[in-house]
Amino acid sequence: MAIRVIRTEEDPVLRKISKPVKEVTPKIITLIDDMLDTMYEAMGVGLAAPQVGILKRLVVIDMGELSNGVLKLVNPEIIDQEGEQLCEEGCLSFPDRWAQTRRPNRVTVKALDENGNPVTLTGEGDLAKCFCHELDHLDGIVFLDKAVPGSVVNTAGVRRAQNRRRR
Ligand code: NI
Repeated sequence: MAIRVIRTEEDPVLRKISKPVKEVTPKIITLIDDMLDTMYEAMGVGLAAPQVGILKRLVVIDMGELSNGVLKLVNPEIIDQEGEQLCEEGCLSFPDRWAQTRRPNRVTVKALDENGNPVTLTGEGDLAKCFCHELDHLDGIVFLDKAVPGSVVNTAGVRRAQNRRRR
């Protein structure tokens, strides 16, 4: 297992469409494990393969009790959605940005697990938001594209000020 570099900001890989995984090989399992290590190290709750520069349709999520632990999703697709929620959203690829988005409140996802077996998962609230956010990455879409107009907050200046104070 290894920590990979998280691609950020204007990196063109974040804007590309990822390819389906043909078979869950040992190499894919290693990539999934690396994605989890990378996500935990960055203190995130979800990560998609393009965020580590790999254009494959792979997503990892760990929202604790809400996701029932770790989810490793291969070729995930939203097959049903309903309702609407106003979300507060951030992304490991845009570490200084927060925004509000509107997402469905309940989402059902079909995927393969790390053994190549089909799974169907339903998430509500924050888990529904997370499914939508991570699956968007596989199509080159980032949360800022879906930000409610005027809601984007850039905290980079705040962080710099805090760093100065710490010294
Ligand atoms: Ni993200």
